[in-house]
Amino acid sequence: MTSFAILLSGRGSNMEALAEAVQSKKLSGRIAFVASDNPEAAGLRRAAELGLRTAVLPYAEGKKRGEEELRELCRLHGAEWIILAGFLSILSPEFVRSFRSRIVNIHPSLLPSFPGKHGIEDAWRRGVKITGVTVHLVDEGVDTGPILAQQAVEILPGETLESLEERIHRAEHSLYGKTLSLLFAGKGLTERC
Ligand code: GAR
Repeated sequence: MTSFAILLSGRGSNMEALAEAVQSKKLSGRIAFVASDNPEAAGLRRAAELGLRTAVLPYAEGKKRGEEELRELCRLHGAEWIILAGFLSILSPEFVRSFRSRIVNIHPSLLPSFPGKHGIEDAWRRGVKITGVTVHLVDEGVDTGPILAQQAVEILPGETLESLEERIHRAEHSLYGKTLSLLFAGKGLTERC
C-alpha cells in the first residue's frame, strides 16, 4: 500500500479530507505522518485528534534543518510520497530533486493563472468568470510543476470572496483524493479526473 506524508501550515481541511478518503477506502494508501513548519497549525492538532502521527519540522532553525528532519521522518516511517496541503514553506531545489516526481501540491486556482499564496482572492479581485483548483507535481519553481488534474469553479454574479472560498475548498477536497488515487495506482499525467 502506498505510504505518504502530508505537510501543512494552517487549518488542514485538505489533510482532513484525505484522512477521511483513506478511512473510507476511497483512497488506497497509508498516511505515514502529518508534519508542519508551524507548531501552532490547527491542522496539526486536528491530525493528532484523528490518531495520526504528527511532527513539527524545525524550520525555526532554518530551511536546511527543517528539510533534514523531513527527509529523516520519510525514511523512518517509510513515506514514498510527500503531499502538500497548504504547506507555506518553499521546498529547496535540492530537496525537490531528491524526491523528483514524488511531491504533489494542491493550488486553489487554475494554474498557470494566479500562482502564489492568494490564488482565490487574486482570481476574485481580477474578476475572472471561471477559476478552480489544480493538483500538480512539484518542481523547482513555485506552483509550476506538471499538472495532474484541474477542476473549474464558476464565479457566480454577486459572489462574495467567502462563498467562493467555500466552493473552492469543496472542489479541492474531492479532487485531491481522486487524483492521488489515480496517481498511486500508477496512472500519471495522461489520466483525466
Ligand atoms: C488550500 O486552499 C490550498 O490549495 C492552499 O492553501 C489552502 C490550505 O487550506 N495552497 C496554496 O495556496 C499553495 N500555493 P487547508 O489548510 O484548509 O487545507
